[in-house]
Amino acid sequence: MKILGIETSCDDTCLSLISLIDREIPSFHIESHLISSQDSVHKEWGGVYPILAQREHQKNLLPLFMQLLKKSNLLEEGVFEIDEREIGNILSREEIITPMLVLFLKKYKKPAIDYISLTIGPGLSPSLWVGVNFARAISFAWDIPIIPVNHIEAHLIISLFSIKKDICSMIASDFPAIGLVVSGGHTQLSLIRKIGQYEIIGETRDDAAGECFDKTARILGLDYPGGPAIAKQAEQWKDSERIISEPLPRPMINQKNLDFSFSGLKTAVLYRNRLKQKKNDLNYVKSEAREIQQAIIDVLIHKTFLAIKEHQAKSIIIGGGVSANKELRYQFEEKKGGGITLFFPPKNTSTDNALMIAVTGYFNRQNACKYDMIKANPNLRI
Ligand code: KG4
Ligand code: ZN
Repeated sequence: MKILGIETSCDDTCLSLISLIDREIPSFHIESHLISSQDSVHKEWGGVYPILAQREHQKNLLPLFMQLLKKSNLLEEGVFEIDEREIGNILSREEIITPMLVLFLKKYKKPAIDYISLTIGPGLSPSLWVGVNFARAISFAWDIPIIPVNHIEAHLIISLFSIKKDICSMIASDFPAIGLVVSGGHTQLSLIRKIGQYEIIGETRDDAAGECFDKTARILGLDYPGGPAIAKQAEQWKDSERIISEPLPRPMINQKNLDFSFSGLKTAVLYRNRLKQKKNDLNYVKSEAREIQQAIIDVLIHKTFLAIKEHQAKSIIIGGGVSANKELRYQFEEKKGGGITLFFPPKNTSTDNALMIAVTGYFNRQNACKYDMIKANPNLRI
């Protein structure tokens, strides 16, 4: 069984192709795992600019798809007939893809792909729709069913896998688990009774943790994406150096509920960094970065372990871009003690990627449907 993963929910155009090796302990051969990052395009804005993201996805998808097929030896030439009118209708919102895709479909044979696993939400509407319409067009042309996938579920499921060489296999699971998704768009705690059964038990009331990294990095004059930029500065800070930063607030840490709020943290950073000369003090920026990172980690750890206690969970499954943060991983490991299993995404799968979408599609293949049943849902919940 071959599954193509498509992910365009935010600012990365991602495609992946996996082949099932083992059903017992789900394992896949990774045929291809491609990410076309738009970071350089959005740098200037200090965050994702949706219309630019949409245009970049439209430009990138087909060339990336051809690269994937070539790498997987699935690009075979011939002469084929297609229904150009229906392809045009499907792609009416992404007109610039149509002429190239029509030429492509006339020239290349249907590849041996059994399912298209597609992110339908949550995410930025213009970005999601490019992936959805592209998937619908190839699904129609080649009669391949589409499995709709929730991006948040995919961030969690990939953490139950390990990757060695080109093999992605499920390691274990330990339910009930607490899921923590920390990304640019979400900060969400869920109670997971088994794969496919999620209950949201806490979430951010305003900014997401990744968004807080991105916005505070911009205040400090650091590059986008802010998470890795802050982590890099924080790492360079030596404890032996004079502490310059005053403590920042840990929003909502003393409240008994499982919700988060990060906009107050951002505002606190904004107020005390209005003086320009501070940003030119490299030591100051490093210590401030360290304090921002620690404030975010403290709140995430506190609320996650509160959830563990409340729900007597056996494990924590963490996913999303912020889970790439080394200090966060280290401090969660330190805190967990015995009896709790911690699952983090394998290397290079914390941030958005299509491998997690293809793998999650496998678990949801009973939901596969025809191209005309599929639409984007920017506010999809798990
Ligand atoms: O999951 P993701 O790629 O996209 C969304 O679904 O939003 O997450 C992107 C977020 C960005 O806010 C980025 O700054 C953050 O993840 N991020 C990090 C790190 N790497 C990426 N935050 C903290 N430390 C990192 N090393
Ligand atoms: Zn994501």
